[in-house]
Amino acid sequence: MSFNTVNDLSNEHQVVFKRLQALIKPADELEKGTGGLSEIKEFSCFLEKEIILHFDIEEKALFPVLGRMIGTDNGPIFVMLTEHEDLTPKFRELIELSKNLTSSDLDSRKRAVKLTRYIITNLYNHAQKEDQILFPFALNALEPEQQAEVDSAAEKLKISHQ
Ligand SMILES: [Fe+2]
Repeated sequence: MSFNTVNDLSNEHQVVFKRLQALIKPADELEKGTGGLSEIKEFSCFLEKEIILHFDIEEKALFPVLGRMIGTDNGPIFVMLTEHEDLTPKFRELIELSKNLTSSDLDSRKRAVKLTRYIITNLYNHAQKEDQILFPFALNALEPEQQAEVDSAAEKLKISHQ
């Protein structure tokens, strides 16, 4: 695969799947008050450092070029953008909440568990849809020049996030 952006995004999904699976137990522990705190905080850092950029690359580099072919008002890109809009505030809330989260703060712990479980389920399903529908389509439909356009936009975003 020479389409770097889709290649990278798809590899990042594999990391996401593993991390989400590994978060099921810490979420249970956080609920019971028996642990999970450090794992949830670590995951929040991952969201902040990696996933916000991953979404940005999809939204600002890949989707606009694909959108010129299949539109963004309905269909797969519309669905992906809607899911990003739903997930991003949940990421932000968990990132903020995790900063001062302690095991003795019951309300924050409950909310963090709820957000974590929501993200486990919905980010998993979202990334799977991209892998199964959008990325194969992008690989087939985009001409080399369009792939290069996506790649160069993605590179710029990576630099601006540093
Ligand atoms: Fe993605």
